[in-house]
Amino acid sequence: MDRIRIVGGRRLEGRIPISGAKNAALPLMIASLLTDRKLTLENLPRLADVNQLTRILGNHGVDYSIDGKRKGEGETSGQTVHLEARVIVDTTAPYELVSKMRASFWVLGPLLARMGEARVSLPGGCAIGTRPVDLLLMAMERLGAQIDIEAGYVVARAPKGLRGAEIDFSKVTVGGTHMALMAASLAHGTTVLHNAAREPEVTDLADCLTKMGARIKGAGSSTIEIEGVARLGGASHAVLPDRIETGTYAMAVAMTGGDVLLEGARADLLQAALDALVETGAEVASEKGGVRVRRNGGDIRPVDIVTEPFPGFPTDLQAQFMGLMTRAAGVSRIRETIFENRFMHVQELARLGAHIRLDGDTAIVEGVPVLKGAPVMATDLRASVSLVIAALAAEGETIVNRVYHLDRGFEHLEKKLGGCNAEIERLSNPG
Ligand code: EPZ
Repeated sequence: MDRIRIVGGRRLEGRIPISGAKNAALPLMIASLLTDRKLTLENLPRLADVNQLTRILGNHGVDYSIDGKRKGEGETSGQTVHLEARVIVDTTAPYELVSKMRASFWVLGPLLARMGEARVSLPGGCAIGTRPVDLLLMAMERLGAQIDIEAGYVVARAPKGLRGAEIDFSKVTVGGTHMALMAASLAHGTTVLHNAAREPEVTDLADCLTKMGARIKGAGSSTIEIEGVARLGGASHAVLPDRIETGTYAMAVAMTGGDVLLEGARADLLQAALDALVETGAEVASEKGGVRVRRNGGDIRPVDIVTEPFPGFPTDLQAQFMGLMTRAAGVSRIRETIFENRFMHVQELARLGAHIRLDGDTAIVEGVPVLKGAPVMATDLRASVSLVIAALAAEGETIVNRVYHLDRGFEHLEKKLGGCNAEIERLSNPG
């Protein structure tokens, strides 16, 4: 398995291109199941999760092709892909494929809406909590589906098609909102989602569905109205920039000091996280080409955060912010309210010399003046990258094991950081 070697202590200077958002790309790809026409997605990131989803969609009958490189494109330029589900040949998403990635469970919505049936293995994914699917199934039931659990599979049936309904989510769920949006687009009649997720990735999916002919009002707010249509058509859509990748590199710069332009990034997608970074003493500015982050000397100030659904501080940046706070000049409190077990990075950060104590859903981080490099290992993708952030500021060498977690969500991480003066390399391990 590959590892990443980092020698800390260098300031980051230069430009980092921000890729298309993984968490928008996945539902957008899944939306291709809703139509027999071609869906073209631009700015798709090159990630292990995208490749895995391609395999899953291929199993249902989706043809997939990637455009070759165009003049002026570099290796970090997003790819343009075409997805075409002329005929759905299989409505089962098997355990071997779904267990590797939770988002693949969302195929249930479009398969059910288009084919009247779907059989999808209960999901796997990052080890960050129990992550039930009760709300996703509740939404499908509200739309008229009959749901049974058989041998680890969710079997959903709606032989006469789905029908519009009022769906009230008791908790904000991104996946539940994605799945309900897709399914309701092809239901008979009008659906209203209450307490819908407001994440930018939901809005991106709604924009794409609208281009495909769906009738959606209110995406980006907590009430979304969808008027079902009989058929959806093809469309072309560019994936929005990755706000989590943006925030991750912004925190890396705040950690090491330096000056980096995050090319193509949009500050409005992560204002709460950027506000917290400014409180730590970093300078953040929106510029024509993206978002510029700087920190020149001075202490990293301790800042308390609480993770919340959008527009609050995102749970997907909690680990990275904790990485930054390990070197703050004082004590910070980081409260995780979305997932109950998303502190797996704490014990690994401790290997680098961090002082962190857990108290229920809150991590109390006592900043230290010096971190020291060490071998570390991570259990999920955002946890892994928090170790990279800490390692960039640690004295000496850190080896990050289990790099496949990083490859799931960060495109060309070592090249992007290496291009900004970091001492970082991938060590390939045969076998
Ligand atoms: C999405 O996961 C993201 N994944 C996650 O990013 C992200 O952390 C999460 O949203 C929250 O922002 C993708 O977009 C692919 P949820 P999702 O349903 O949709 C509970 C990453 O690192 N819940 O919004 O699976 C759930 O347990 C990943 O890129 C139920 O109780 O998350 C959690 O506590 C990790 N019942 C909360 O809701 C349900 O049926 C929010 O989960 C569904 C969810």
